[in-house]
Amino acid sequence: MGIDLSIDFCKVRCENPFFLSSSVVGSNYEMCAKALKMGWAGVVFKTIGFYIPNEVSPRFDAFEKENTPFIGFKNLEQISDHPLKQNLIWLKKLKEDFPNKVIVASIMGEKEDEWTELAKLVTEAGVDMIECNFSCPQMTSEAMGADVGQNPELVKSYCKAVRKGTNLPIISKMTPNLHNMSIPAIASIEGGANSIAAINTVKSITNIDIDNFIPLPNINGKSSVSGYSGKAVKPIALRFINEIAKNEKLKGIPISGMGGIETYKDAVEFLASGASNLQITTAVMQYGYRIIEDLISGLSLYMEEKGFKKLEDFIGAAVNNVVSADKLDRNYIIYPKFDEDRCIGCGRCYISCFDGGHQAINWISKDRKPVLNRNKCIGCHLCAAVCPINCISSGEILYK
Ligand SMILES: Cc1cc2nc3c(=O)[nH]c(=O)nc-3n(C[C@H](O)[C@H](O)[C@H](O)COP(=O)(O)O)c2cc1C
Repeated sequence: MGIDLSIDFCKVRCENPFFLSSSVVGSNYEMCAKALKMGWAGVVFKTIGFYIPNEVSPRFDAFEKENTPFIGFKNLEQISDHPLKQNLIWLKKLKEDFPNKVIVASIMGEKEDEWTELAKLVTEAGVDMIECNFSCPQMTSEAMGADVGQNPELVKSYCKAVRKGTNLPIISKMTPNLHNMSIPAIASIEGGANSIAAINTVKSITNIDIDNFIPLPNINGKSSVSGYSGKAVKPIALRFINEIAKNEKLKGIPISGMGGIETYKDAVEFLASGASNLQITTAVMQYGYRIIEDLISGLSLYMEEKGFKKLEDFIGAAVNNVVSADKLDRNYIIYPKFDEDRCIGCGRCYISCFDGGHQAINWISKDRKPVLNRNKCIGCHLCAAVCPINCISSGEILYK
């Protein structure tokens, strides 16, 4: 077949771009070993530190829609609650037992000397890279978490502190809970980081129980704003990755992308947006480590079909196709085209066009068929977006 999924990330060879992201899915030796044996190229071990959290129960909530069990996922988990010594033993054994896989230690300190010490300890344990977690939105210690990632001075000084303790590649993991990610990303690189990872979870309230007005998960009558992940955050992740990939000051800085990756198609979108490494948690929590098989075969088949031999052939290919809204071509409209043979006559295009569009679809109730009124259609394609069987596509173009 001649397809090569291997890639250098921060000058470390990875057999494919897929890593477990730092979370519950990689929180002990046994879990990571199972995933690595199944084909994951690397693991970013659950964030470790001197701080040992006392966790709540329950700690998750799912955001659902219609028949989809969850489109987004909220968690209240902090960093590892295993003793640091135990985590270091697991990291060391993972590297010894899987020398050809990539073992990344995710660390979080409360002050500079803790960041330096953690960097030294994980370097001694033999890991390949260090990821700095500046971005957990539900830490109970004020000196840690997502708010650190919003403060470029702190990010820079903590990266410097980590650099003092290691010569390994440093990945700086960003919070999406800000407007402009480039600011802390540039500060990270100035502080000595080599790469940017995005995104950590998005601050959220997912659901409120309307019988007792308690947000979920209900922890003895209360809940907290905390991290949202999974498919629903993919659009937010791609937006930030595009921002990092485009920034002139971050040119050439390797990006590790995550946030809602579930399928090979998601993977292609992140790679085309400039990521050269991909990390996953929520899809693994839902479907298990075995998704790696579909990710690898799906990505390989996609590349074969497109004639790509290696990932570099299309990494970043979509970056410059995102432009500011004032640069978009506004000189034409595309009319929708209805496939009458496939149309099931559900009327959703008609309802949406009337109530949310420009009243450009007439409804022949006898035939249960939509008929387009070109004099009113402005080519918004809402009809195509709501069609449940995808029988509406782009048709004729009218130049203004
Ligand atoms: C249960 C859970 C625990 C997590 N713990 C950590 C963590 O310890 N360190 C960290 O950097 N990110 C943590 N994350 C964030 C993930 O690594 C990842 O950035 C985020 O979930 C987006 O990716 P996903 O949509 O594939 O889950 C956690 C996420 C979840 C759902």
